Amino acid sequence: MANIVIVGTQWGDEGKGKIVDFFTHYADVVVRFQGGNNAGHTLVVDGVKTILHLIPSGVLHSKKICVIGNGVVIDPKVLCSEILTLKKAGYLKRAKALRISHLANLILPYHQRIDQLREAAKGDLKIGTTGRGIGPCYEDKVARRGIRMADFVRPEIFEKRLEDVLPERNAYLEKVLGGQPFSVKELLKEYLPLADTLRGYVEDVGETVLHQKKKQHILFEGAQGTSLDVDHGTYPYVTSSNTVAGFASCGSGLGPTQIHQVVGVAKAYTTRVGSGPFPTELGEETGQYLREKGGEYGSTTGRPRRCGWLDLVVIRHAMKVNGLTSLVLTKLDVLSGLKKIKLGVAYRLDGKRLNTVPATVEDLERVEPVYQEVPGWREDLTGVTKWRQLPTAARRYVERIQDLLGVGITSVSIGPSRQQHIVLKNPFK
Ligand code: IMP
Repeated sequence: MANIVIVGTQWGDEGKGKIVDFFTHYADVVVRFQGGNNAGHTLVVDGVKTILHLIPSGVLHSKKICVIGNGVVIDPKVLCSEILTLKKAGYLKRAKALRISHLANLILPYHQRIDQLREAAKGDLKIGTTGRGIGPCYEDKVARRGIRMADFVRPEIFEKRLEDVLPERNAYLEKVLGGQPFSVKELLKEYLPLADTLRGYVEDVGETVLHQKKKQHILFEGAQGTSLDVDHGTYPYVTSSNTVAGFASCGSGLGPTQIHQVVGVAKAYTTRVGSGPFPTELGEETGQYLREKGGEYGSTTGRPRRCGWLDLVVIRHAMKVNGLTSLVLTKLDVLSGLKKIKLGVAYRLDGKRLNTVPATVEDLERVEPVYQEVPGWREDLTGVTKWRQLPTAARRYVERIQDLLGVGITSVSIGPSRQQHIVLKNPFK
């Protein structure tokens, strides 16, 4: 039995969806444990592109059980529409293919309105959130005024909870943010039909799926990336959940002794959406080259992603806080055509060399990356299926990263489809 967590090692968008989809083949259960529909996992199966925001990427495999854990924040509208789209495309045929934790918190329209009005008020100081209400929903959870799935699917309890929390949220919306309030009546009208759709999926997933005596492989699918973690990321330019592997346990209810391996996913370069420091960010020309070649536009908001060289300080940090047992490198093909490639190996701050990420954004904004330059390659990699078919310079690039980090790179992805993936070692085997 192997229970494995897959996490992003950068600022999200590392290509985790494809890697999860690949490893799902070996798993029985796939679990999302944090975040919400701020995530966007793009998968290409038989030439058809599917973008998932909430439902685990494992759903594209029949016979697997997908779980949305208690650590996830759920926008019922988005979830219902994702279920509908997947059903139309021929997925989610079995009734029990998707299970939703009864403890997961609900994103409601006042969370989105608060998120958007706050960002607008901040002007240049905005976080650059996805505007999906993620932060305000996690705030409510911790402030003990959240509404959970177990409440939502019981109309009388849902109504009571709304009556309890709305007056305070409305006062905040109107008096602090100058926004429009919501009424319990309008929310009930819009949301009760959604509760009807979701009721059959909501249960105690610990009892029904995770704590089974039978042998099963569980794959935990992380969203966002380590540098967006609310504790370990580039605070305050982070998301509002813990994105690190340790949270797979909290966000699902499976104890930490039941997690056996942690696979980190790193893009062969770095991207970031939203505001915040980004030491290896590239200027216009090469940045634009990577953006266009790598299709670096947000799959949730469509925003252009900021692009830069691979930052090994950031990945080293991710190795530590996640306890990575191996690394997967994605989008190596995007680097084809560059004469020289740079690797950020350390930072320099006030004349001193730093091997760790400074805690304040003020310092992180001032660091100068220390680079090592390596030769690039011209060949197109998209048809490559074996390690030895890669151009020598591409192999050297991967080996150099492995040596500098001291972690095994167990697979390399060289294109969006399932076939464009070179596996050197499978952690499930
Ligand atoms: P929020 O999660 O919408 O509150 O946004 C907070 C920060 O996290 C912003 O910089 C977003 O762009 C970033 N973010 C949230 N989700 C993702 C993701 O899935 N990929 C990349 N960045 C993300």
